[in-house]
Amino acid sequence: MEGSSGQNNTYAKGLEGVIAAETEIGFVDGQEGRLVYRGYDITTLCDNSNYEEVSYLLNYGKLPNRKEMNDYLEKMKANSEIPESTYEIIEKFGRKTHPMVTLRTVISNLASYDPQESDSSIENQRRIAISITAKMPAIVGAIHRTIQGKDIIKTKSELSYAGNFLYYALGRNPDSVETKIMDTALMLHADHGMNASTFSSLVTISTLADIYSATTSAISTLKGPLHGGANERALKMIMDIGSPDRAGPYLEAMVARKEKIMGFGHRVYKVYDPRAKILKKYAAYISEKSEKKNIFETANKVEEIMINKLGEKGIFPNVDFYSGMIYYSMGLSPEIFTPIFALGRISGWTARSLEYLQSNKLFRPKALYVGEKGPKSYISIQERQ
Ligand code: ACO
Repeated sequence: MEGSSGQNNTYAKGLEGVIAAETEIGFVDGQEGRLVYRGYDITTLCDNSNYEEVSYLLNYGKLPNRKEMNDYLEKMKANSEIPESTYEIIEKFGRKTHPMVTLRTVISNLASYDPQESDSSIENQRRIAISITAKMPAIVGAIHRTIQGKDIIKTKSELSYAGNFLYYALGRNPDSVETKIMDTALMLHADHGMNASTFSSLVTISTLADIYSATTSAISTLKGPLHGGANERALKMIMDIGSPDRAGPYLEAMVARKEKIMGFGHRVYKVYDPRAKILKKYAAYISEKSEKKNIFETANKVEEIMINKLGEKGIFPNVDFYSGMIYYSMGLSPEIFTPIFALGRISGWTARSLEYLQSNKLFRPKALYVGEKGPKSYISIQERQ
C-alpha cells in the first residue's frame, strides 16, 4: 500500500510472512511436518546419509558421487588445522565467557589469517566456507573442554565430522552409536528455512562482505534465547520436574502462570516436528545407556500431557525438546548446546550465503516512519527545559 508520504506502508512486524529470497536449498512444510533439503526428505537423509554428504548436498546442489565425496573430504582435512591463536583465545576466554561469544570471536579472528578474505568471487568464498566448516569440530570441541575446566585436545583426530567433534569435546574416541546419534543431530540442524541466523548471514553477504563475516553475524544471531538455547532450557525444566509423577502438577502450574513450556511449539510446524520424531528414539536409547533413563521417562510423560492439553492448538514437541537430553546423556555440558547447533547449521549458513551471492542484491528494507514530521523550530541547549 502506497501512503500519502510516498512510503510503502505495508508493514510486517519481524518480517513475518515476507519472502526475502528465493532458494533451492531447503523447505519446511509446517502443515505436513516435512523438512526437505534439495528435494530429499530429512528422514531419508538421516536413515541413509551422513553430515558430510548433507553438507555437500546443501552447498553444491546434489549428493556427491564417490570421487566428489573424496575430494570434499580431502579439502576438509587440508583445512582443518587450527591456528594457535584460536586456542589461545578459547583458553583466555575460558569459562567466564559465553561460549557463543568465544565461538563468534574465533571465527571472526580466522579472517585475520586469510589475505584473500575480501575477494568476493564465488570460488574464493566457497573456499572460505570449506575452511570454516572444516575447523568447526575442533573449535566447538575445544570450547567444550574449557567449559569443563579440562585441557584442550590438540592431537589431530581423523574420524568423521561428528566423530571428530565428540573426540575433541570428550577427550576420547566415541563409539559408533554415539557418533551416529551426533551425526543425525547435526544433519537435522544443518538447514531450516529463513530462520533469523540464516537471514542475518544473507544480509551480511549481500554487502559483499565475506563468509567469515556472514558466519560471525549468524553466530551472533543464533546466540539469542529466542533462536538457539531452547534445548538447554528444556533440559533444565525436565531435570527440575525430576520424575514422571511430578510432571502433571508442574505443567499445570506453568500453564496457570501462562508460561511457555520449553521445547514445545514452533512458528512453522503446527504438527509434530519431524526432527523431534527422529531424535526421540535416540533420546530413549542414549538416556538408558548412560543411566539417565529417568530423564527420558519424565520427558515422555511431559510430552503425553502436553499433547493431550495443547495438541489441538498445534503445539507439539520441537527439535529442542529431545536434543538437549541426548547431548547431556553423552556427557556434554548444557553451555555447549547452542554451539553444537552452530556446528550443524554452518553448512546451511554457507550454502545459503553462497546461493544468495550468486544473484546478489544488497538488502535494504525500509522502516515505516511513525515519528513527528515537524518541522520543529530549534531551541538552543541553554533554553531547553
Ligand atoms: N507452551 C505453552 N503454550 C504455548 C507454547 C508453549 N511452548 N507455544 C505456544 N503456545 C501457545 C501460546 O501461549 C498461544 O496461546 P494463545 O493463542 O492462547 O495465546 C498459542 O500457543 C500461539 O503461540 P505463539 O507464541 O503465538 O506461537 P508462535 O508460533 O509465535 O511461537 C514459539 C512459536 C516462539 C517457538 C513458541 O511456541 C515458544 O515460545 N515455544 C517455547 C520455546 C521453544 O521451545 N523454542 C524453540 C523453537 S524450535 C527452534 O528454534 C530450533
